[in-house]
Amino acid sequence: MRFTPTEEQAQLKELAAKASRQLFATTIEKDEEEGIFRREIIRELGKLGLTGIPTPVEYDGAGLGYLEYAIALEEIAAYGAAYAISVAVSGLPQVILNLFGNEQQKKKYIPPLARGEHIGAFSLSESHAGSDAGSLKARAVKNGSEYVLNGTKLWTTQGNVADTVIVFARTGGEGPRGVSAFIVEKGTKGFRAGKTEHKMAANASPTCEMILEDVVVPASSLVGEEGQGFKIAMTALDSGRITIGATAVGLGRAAFEYSTKFAKERKQFGQPIADFQGIQFMVADMYTALEASRLLVQRAAYLKDSGLPFTREASAAKLFSTDATMSITTDAVQLLGGVGYTKEYPVERYMREAKVLQIVEGTNQIQRMVIGRSI
Ligand code: CAA
Repeated sequence: MRFTPTEEQAQLKELAAKASRQLFATTIEKDEEEGIFRREIIRELGKLGLTGIPTPVEYDGAGLGYLEYAIALEEIAAYGAAYAISVAVSGLPQVILNLFGNEQQKKKYIPPLARGEHIGAFSLSESHAGSDAGSLKARAVKNGSEYVLNGTKLWTTQGNVADTVIVFARTGGEGPRGVSAFIVEKGTKGFRAGKTEHKMAANASPTCEMILEDVVVPASSLVGEEGQGFKIAMTALDSGRITIGATAVGLGRAAFEYSTKFAKERKQFGQPIADFQGIQFMVADMYTALEASRLLVQRAAYLKDSGLPFTREASAAKLFSTDATMSITTDAVQLLGGVGYTKEYPVERYMREAKVLQIVEGTNQIQRMVIGRSI
């Protein structure tokens, strides 16, 4: 594992940073306030090859690794965490179909997602099945050459705008082994988004209830085999946790850079507050947490790219980096003092955005459970 980027990685980093600055850096604040998701931004990111980074070239992806994916997501998140979440979640159906889909499914669904023309979503959770995902109740009943799906899903990122949704529903008995995964296309009769959650932050990335009322899908929509759904979900989340870690690093970096610049400019007692040891110690801890987070994310990505087991490392990266970013963004508000608490400055938004990263794609308590069990 190398600690300096290759030329290709450095170019990708610059590309992602430049695109983010141009596409949403100046509008994200307002869009967050108003809960506006801009689909065209995903399309533009797609034109630059940023919406299918680890997807094979034959399905119109960039054919790169998770290390490159993490580098790009860090940049996107530094300018707008909501769009990093959006790209990461649109990546989940891609990784699922690439690993478990048949050739027909791959050819039909992956390329438009990889190009950013379509938006993807992952619909696992339900009201009573959050951390205990294996207890989900939505049902899929086989009827000849079709399945009929019924149930209500929750917390589906961009479910209201997604074209391709991987829906997890029960085809068998209770528990994880009874779960199957289905591709459900936007516009399928009986399939619709319910309410959009009004969240503490990340409102430019909508989070929706998904309603399935006698939704008929062809049997060819089943991904993998019946009963394989839970493993498919867990495998996708293993990869997804690397992307959430990378998002946390980008967000933490934005807070770190903004607040340290401020500390060098803000004068009290006749000198920049950055000259005080009390501030320097805070900054040193923020820096160290940020660097450690990035290394954990990159190591998990490296293991995945090398074809080695990475479940524990991905959970550790997600756990550490999102907790670190919660702490870094909170300290950033503290460094700015009173103005940091106002909406005139972006750091209070960073702090609110950080909170969701400790919850999404498995709470940090679940990450500790995954790590603990594996040890
Ligand atoms: N990879 C492959 N298979 C896995 C696996 C992994 N990482 N983790 C578990 N499995 C398999 C197990 O081997 C087991 O297989 P067998 O039945 O063949 O033995 C099966 O799955 C069941 O495993 P467990 O007994 O460990 O299952 P559990 O019920 O105890 O749950 C859990 C384990 C880790 C707690 C899991 O439920 C979990 O990760 N929960 C959190 C769910 C989560 O992250 N939700 C967020 C979804 S994101 C979202 O909804 C928003 C969005 O838009 C993206």
